Amino acid sequence: MAAIRGDPAQGSQAKTVAIINPRRAIYNIQAERPPSEERTTKVRLDMNENTAGPAPGVLRRLRNAVQATQLGAYPEYESARAELARHFNVRAEELLLTNGIDDALKLICDTFVDPGDSLLIPNLTFTMYQFFHSVAGGKTKVIHYDSKLRLPVHRALAALRAGPGRARVRWLALANPNNPTGTLIPKDDLRGLLRAAPGTLILVDEAYFDYSGETVLPWIRRYPNLIVARTFSKAHGLAGLRLGLLFARRGLTDWMRRAQAVFPVNSLALAAALAAINSPHDLRRHVSDVLEQRHRLCRCLDSLGVPYAPSAANFVFARFGPKAPEVARRLARQGILVRHWSRDPHLRPYFRVGIGTATEMRRVVRALEGLRSLIEPQDSALAWRGAARYSPLPTHG
Ligand SMILES: Cc1ncc(COP(=O)(O)O)c(C=O)c1O
Repeated sequence: MAAIRGDPAQGSQAKTVAIINPRRAIYNIQAERPPSEERTTKVRLDMNENTAGPAPGVLRRLRNAVQATQLGAYPEYESARAELARHFNVRAEELLLTNGIDDALKLICDTFVDPGDSLLIPNLTFTMYQFFHSVAGGKTKVIHYDSKLRLPVHRALAALRAGPGRARVRWLALANPNNPTGTLIPKDDLRGLLRAAPGTLILVDEAYFDYSGETVLPWIRRYPNLIVARTFSKAHGLAGLRLGLLFARRGLTDWMRRAQAVFPVNSLALAAALAAINSPHDLRRHVSDVLEQRHRLCRCLDSLGVPYAPSAANFVFARFGPKAPEVARRLARQGILVRHWSRDPHLRPYFRVGIGTATEMRRVVRALEGLRSLIEPQDSALAWRGAARYSPLPTHG
């Protein structure tokens, strides 16, 4: 929508004032900004990255790919797509390359969401589902976790049921494992949801699959409403290059391809991804290191009386008590970044700690032990009440 007063092309004497308005949906959206800058010199446990970065073989392949022809030419995708499809055991037409999962979410919205459509999400989950859905002009409904931090599937089923005067939910987004809780949704629940709502798209975001080992990827042929997302940003240590994958039945991928940019992914990201899938030993070693360090962090939390959610990912969501923001600030002063929610009354007592290398986790454990006096031990039965009550701010008016 653009209103322009005074037109210089017509040589008018009137003062030229141009007011360019955005689409209605954009008015109520806050610009999403990365939480901090200058992170690379710090212990980065705030964004669930692999802090060690990619495997040495991936770096070698990338260095070889930095050549004039490779950089000067537009990317070519078909043989890479075929190789990725073989690796993931799907057909090439069941896979889309995206600029990270973030871009995949935008693609889902560009393809399937009309203004006023509904997205269903758990109350505490990855914020980008709601963000892109709101940009598309959609409304968001939430299902609240229970006080044991489990997703009540009966509530999700009730919300999915279209009824008289109630529009069908357009899509349901589930991160599995979930961010920030690290928890998994049982496969039976996922199956129940996919079966109960064949007219609703269900995205299962498996950004942390390499840590959890749990996947519904083989189900894409069984459920025409299922979309699965994966990324190279997490276990593969390639967050800076931005490469994500979407998997679905051909009917869905064909629609999405229509809405997609011709060159959505850069050639270096592709070269790195191909090297990464051919380095399974490095991936296994990284995952096993993370599981060991996660265990070390959990032992430390046990000794501090800090309850934490059972994590299937490379981070732990824990309740540090009312002084959690102060604990996070003190950690930051020591160069350790964690994700906290100081401004939200329900989430203020919690933070999410990523799992870094052994050296980094040794530092974290020492730092947390040094802050013991600020940490309030809590009975784990009562730990998740605040998180269960939290509601994300509506980004749509
Ligand atoms: C559940 C989930 N999905 C997707 C992403 C983003 O992935 P990408 O870097 O591929 O955009 C994140 C990042 O934190 C995440 O937690």
